[in-house]
Amino acid sequence: MKIDLAVLDRQFKLHQTEYEEAALRVLRSGWYILGPELEAFEKEFADYVGAKHCIGVASGLDALTLAVRALGIGTGDEVIVPANTYIATVLAVTENGAKPVFLEPDEYYNLDAEKLENAITSKTKAVMAVHLYGQAADMENIIKIAEKHGLPVIEDCAQSHGAHNGTVMTGHCGTIGCFSFYPTKNLGAFGDAGAVVTDRDDIAETIVKLRNYGSKIKYHNELAGVNSRLDELQAALLRVKLRHLPELIAERKTIAKEYLEGIKNSKLTLPKTREDAEHVYHQFVVRAKDRDGLQKYLENNDIHTVIHYPIPPHLAECYQSLGYKEGDYPIAEEYAKEVLSLPMFNGMKAEEVKYVVDVLNDY
Ligand SMILES: Cc1ncc(COP(=O)(O)O)c(C=O)c1O
Repeated sequence: MKIDLAVLDRQFKLHQTEYEEAALRVLRSGWYILGPELEAFEKEFADYVGAKHCIGVASGLDALTLAVRALGIGTGDEVIVPANTYIATVLAVTENGAKPVFLEPDEYYNLDAEKLENAITSKTKAVMAVHLYGQAADMENIIKIAEKHGLPVIEDCAQSHGAHNGTVMTGHCGTIGCFSFYPTKNLGAFGDAGAVVTDRDDIAETIVKLRNYGSKIKYHNELAGVNSRLDELQAALLRVKLRHLPELIAERKTIAKEYLEGIKNSKLTLPKTREDAEHVYHQFVVRAKDRDGLQKYLENNDIHTVIHYPIPPHLAECYQSLGYKEGDYPIAEEYAKEVLSLPMFNGMKAEEVKYVVDVLNDY
């Protein structure tokens, strides 16, 4: 049996007719950018998250970059980011000319709230929390400390659509929530797409302008903006998937439960869920001391896995000028050496899950 990390046509086939109808509706409408589908999706997604505003943009990276910019953060400013994250989180900070200040992860792979206060300086202008792999970060404590210092909190929800922290949905815990709808995400489009959600009218207004050349009224360019719009086709397809998101998340949780209950191998560390946090399992990530050996063994058994992520951002080639070296963030570095994401996708069959469990138990 051959199993990939994610097989995306399976989730398409789950609701194929609805996607095809939505796509045809847009193709036949003659309106492809900033139209009724985006407006409807923005309203539906804002309602889903519980936020006042949703602004569709072209990608998750753009959502984060525009969020940092809308807060007026730039050269000379610092933004606290998790050391254990996808590089896009950090790129959003450096793209605005600000300095990322890394913070070690907790045992749930997210920013360690206990270490936050010590990292705040007079230059800190925001805290960026990432709900990595689909599990909500410790937002209660992160927000408590950020508020004490008058700092906004940006949430990177690229992997956490639908995950709650306590009763609040990720994206609505902090000041601004940033989403990616990259095809593999739990709420994935069929191309690139992203969104920003917020309760703040001023931030929403700024991002509405920034995403469209800095103008709200055509040819009145108030800000030097960008072109970052979520198109009508993706918006229509996302509206379909959003309707099914609760059942898609439930399916992921069922697969995770099978893994958690079935995998019994002391060489592996299984993911844990923090009390108060919901995990929607964008990725099911295990750790092993001999991760590369484990990955090779799985590959030999036709199970394809991926490392999220092999190089922590502070050691990325593009950030050599920041002057970090190996050993600066030992926990994040250890995770980068040990993590491995197992196959996890909507439409994954029970026998496929069982095969992965059996192969792992034989390891
Ligand atoms: C944690 C995180 N942040 C940001 C992004 C960027 O999203 P996009 O690929 O839509 O730009 C991703 C996507 O992979 C991500 O995983």
